[in-house]
Amino acid sequence: MTRTDYRLLASQLLALLDKEIDALAATSNFVALLCNAMDDVNWLGVYVLRGDDLVLGPFQGKPACARIRLGDGVCGTAAATLTTQRVHDVHAFPGHIACDPDSRSELVVPLLANHELIGVLDIDSPSLGRFGEADQHGVEAICRTFCGLQASRDSFI
Ligand code: SME
Repeated sequence: MTRTDYRLLASQLLALLDKEIDALAATSNFVALLCNAMDDVNWLGVYVLRGDDLVLGPFQGKPACARIRLGDGVCGTAAATLTTQRVHDVHAFPGHIACDPDSRSELVVPLLANHELIGVLDIDSPSLGRFGEADQHGVEAICRTFCGLQASRDSFI
């Protein structure tokens, strides 16, 4: 498996989103850039906070559940606790929501703009324990870069 160069990715993201003011276009390219830079990933996308629900946004992978309640599943837990969920084995996570049966491990990072939750980034892998500490820190950093750009926009998607 090739290691993702998260620093390089951050500079590519800044170049890709430079001058793009539309949140939907920016988020779609964020998801596509990250997905293409990560090996062994079967689903990668964004859920957007709408009221008490996380609603499916731009993603790459199989069709997925469109709505997740805050506190439910891995995504809802990350959103409700504002903490990254790095799950070695999704089958061992109580309440895990299986969208793609191929998924075996998962990384979910809360997205915050101006200190407020705007959604989560969800990454699934068909391999057990796919995401290590370096991936967690790298993905958290790229999410901060993305959210920093997002903060200057009027709304998120
Ligand atoms: N597994 C997630 C649901 C979203 S899909 O993986 C795309 C969860 O438990 O929240």
